[in-house]
Amino acid sequence: MERSKGCLSLLLLAAVVASLVACSSAGIYHIVGAGKGWRMAPNRTYYGDWARTRNISVGDKLMFLYRSGVYNIVEVPSRDLFDGCSMRNITNRYQNGPTIIELVPPAGPRYFFCGVGKHCEEGQKLKIYVAPFAPSRTQNDEQAEDSSGSPAAAPVPLLALAACLLALLLLM
Ligand SMILES: *[C@@H]1O[C@H](CO)[C@@H](O)[C@H](O)[C@H]1NC(C)=O
Ligand SMILES: *[C@@H]1O[C@H](CO)[C@@H](O)[C@H](O)[C@H]1NC(C)=O
Ligand SMILES: *[C@@H]1O[C@H](CO)[C@@H](O)[C@H](O)[C@H]1NC(C)=O
Repeated sequence: MERSKGCLSLLLLAAVVASLVACSSAGIYHIVGAGKGWRMAPNRTYYGDWARTRNISVGDKLMFLYRSGVYNIVEVPSRDLFDGCSMRNITNRYQNGPTIIELVPPAGPRYFFCGVGKHCEEGQKLKIYVAPFAPSRTQNDEQAEDSSGSPAAAPVPLLALAACLLALLLLM
């Protein structure tokens, strides 16, 4: 049991590393919640505020950093279910953190929340709008990353990797 979990984690790590290597050309990683990761929100607008500062488009990836068993991610298909934190109709469920979700077409709204306890009601929920394509990506993004005070383009994957390693250590 423990051993297979460790193996899975290693596989996951390999997948993460492989995709990080590949990522520079294929869409952008968005670390959900930035430094806080995916956890009980400090307040009810936290994840909404985070999403508002990001341009998210098809081909990008959402990276949810969380501790398995403590948090999870469910996706629901409609605004009503999201607003009501309703798990009546779940389209995706992820429970082995960290989770990377590639935003495949079609563009449009996506609704995620944590299905554990009252976490969703407390604000651990994320609504995003996935745009069909990125607004003039190549130069703009690097400038945006640099001037926003967040780590510049190159260190982001390292930071993500470090966070993943931490998450894996927590797992084992
Ligand atoms: C929510 O928490 C974040 C992080 O602690 C903080 O920056 C933000 O101002 C808070 N928002 C409200 C409405 O309290
Ligand atoms: C999002 O895209 C708009 C329009 O191109 C741009 O003005 C803005 O700076 C971008 N924001 C971020 C955080 O990249
Ligand atoms: C559940 O979601 C699917 C996919 O969006 C939708 O077709 C179906 O009508 C939904 N069912 C309920 C009970 O909301």
